[in-house]
Amino acid sequence: MAQAVYIINGPNLNLLGSREPEIYGTTTLADIEAACASKLNSYDLPMSFFQSNDEGELVSIIQTARLEASGVIINAAAYSHTSVAILDALQSLSQPIIEVHLSNIYARESFRHHSHISQVATGVICGLGAQGYEMAIDALAKRIKP
Ligand code: DQA
Repeated sequence: MAQAVYIINGPNLNLLGSREPEIYGTTTLADIEAACASKLNSYDLPMSFFQSNDEGELVSIIQTARLEASGVIINAAAYSHTSVAILDALQSLSQPIIEVHLSNIYARESFRHHSHISQVATGVICGLGAQGYEMAIDALAKRIKP
């Protein structure tokens, strides 16, 4: 069996479902985790699913992914726009990386229009809500080396 797909979620995503539902919808992070598990199962790929509000902890998870993941899906939330540390950590990976945002960051405030992560991402999906995670799995499954 392939190594796990790491799905890494950044700050405030633990509040999905009740946080600004007009922007992020009413789907909870637990709902997203369940949908991802089921989708990955259909590809026979194991999953490791994380959420942290802490930048350093996210860097550590990415360092573990470097050694143990077959691919990475990351929604670094606000750290996408600010964190060189997360960019540096992702830069050390050779596996495919898909960046996901629930909202369309380009239709929002200008400070959300730039993501440090995009330059190291294989692809970027934004604005499609929780469905973006499932699309990211489809994209990764085609790119993970057996
Ligand atoms: C987000 C978009 C970010 O700008 C924001 O800070 C988030 C969530 C999204 O999924 O739409 O927390 O990454």
